[in-house]
Amino acid sequence: MSGINYSEKIPNNVNLANDRTLQRALEHWQPHFIDWWQHLGPSDFQRADVYLRTATSVDAEGWATYGAVKMPEYRWGIFLADAQPERKIGFGDNMGQPAWQQVPGEFRSTLRRLIVTQGDTEPASVEQQRLLGHTCPSLYDLRNLFQVNVEEGRHLWAMVYLLHAYFGRDGREEAEELLARHSGDADKPRILTTFNEPISDWLSFYCFTYFTDRDGKYQLKSLAESAFDPLSRTCRFMLTEEAHHMFVGETGIGRVVKRTLEVMQELGTEDPARIRAAGAVDLALLQKYLNFWCSSSLDLFGSEISSNAASNFANGLKGRPDESQYEDHVLRNVQLKLDTPQGAQDVPMLNALNEVMRESYLKDCEIGLKRWNRQIERAGYAFRLSLPSTRFRRSIGSWVGLPVDPQGKLHAREEFDKRLAEWIPSEADRAFVRSLMQRVVEPGKMAGWVAPPERGINNLPVEYEYVKLS
Ligand SMILES: [Fe+2]
Ligand SMILES: [Fe+2]
Repeated sequence: MSGINYSEKIPNNVNLANDRTLQRALEHWQPHFIDWWQHLGPSDFQRADVYLRTATSVDAEGWATYGAVKMPEYRWGIFLADAQPERKIGFGDNMGQPAWQQVPGEFRSTLRRLIVTQGDTEPASVEQQRLLGHTCPSLYDLRNLFQVNVEEGRHLWAMVYLLHAYFGRDGREEAEELLARHSGDADKPRILTTFNEPISDWLSFYCFTYFTDRDGKYQLKSLAESAFDPLSRTCRFMLTEEAHHMFVGETGIGRVVKRTLEVMQELGTEDPARIRAAGAVDLALLQKYLNFWCSSSLDLFGSEISSNAASNFANGLKGRPDESQYEDHVLRNVQLKLDTPQGAQDVPMLNALNEVMRESYLKDCEIGLKRWNRQIERAGYAFRLSLPSTRFRRSIGSWVGLPVDPQGKLHAREEFDKRLAEWIPSEADRAFVRSLMQRVVEPGKMAGWVAPPERGINNLPVEYEYVKLS
């Protein structure tokens, strides 16, 4: 059944009405969620009419409707991709056996941990972004921010459903904790560091949706392979929604590049100071933002060598993104050569899966860079944007804390510290970017540091009033 039942308090396609206990438990959690949204979701704008999409089916074609919604009235619900009949486990030591419809006792705490860690990032990002609305560069962008926010809220619902439905009392407690931890909170921070960094400007927001939501995509892809079928189906549908978040990042950065190139051509200069004086983001500054957010997102994949990654794979809990593209799905007799600070090292492939995932993530990241660099090339400039080395700014794994620059070159510590502000935004850079963040809310108008998008949402013109402020 792919249709979604909207007549119930909690829209769902999991037959919630047939399980009264579960339904009651989730209806009990629902007001806590709304309360969290009101207090830690977008600051202000809760009474505005926002042109949002809402899922109406989990079919790949035509799965959403669009219309004006006040955010607190958004129909957050529980949507799983359709079951694949007779689905089998696709990797690991239990490959070929039927996928699990319930949680096997021996994997209960590991699966719960995986679900909680994924779930924690969803409300965390809403909290990180809660002040951005005040400085939106356009109504189009404001709407996109809120679309991302409500869908991250829905992803929280997706994980809370799994916790409630399959993990009993522990699961219900974890669901409460997901609303009790807060991004950047000194006592109860979010689980992963990246999700405690405040996102206080829109350049960071574009970078976050480009790099960090893409990490989300890769995590969801690997969980979509899971032998635990309800988790797999949940993640498959989340990926459908996630695509838009990365679109916001990729087109957002592309629009910044476009505007900067216009300013460079108008002024006939590549001088960062003159570009900044004209109210645009010079490309070297953009590169620093890419360095910061890419390196921070790379940490989310964990250590290159990881026994957890090995057992999660061997046990069928978490596969590789797009597992079916590989030939060997068991990986018991393969090694991977890893570059470590101590030299090349052969590691059992099972233990190196975080690195395998990080590599495929980086390939995906390259796509946007190629596009942006083509824009720069077409405008006739030699500058090229690039991704930082995976050894730059590691806070986990074998390169942790080493003074390696974005090109991968090792420096003396003192030299590295002195030059760090050349590679990631300095306080002055951040202050400059903050100074650009002036709120623009006239339909069709854009802030001066970002070009308009090529098209509007759902075939509407760019000038459409995507958010009606009350
Ligand atoms: Fe998400
Ligand atoms: Fe997302």
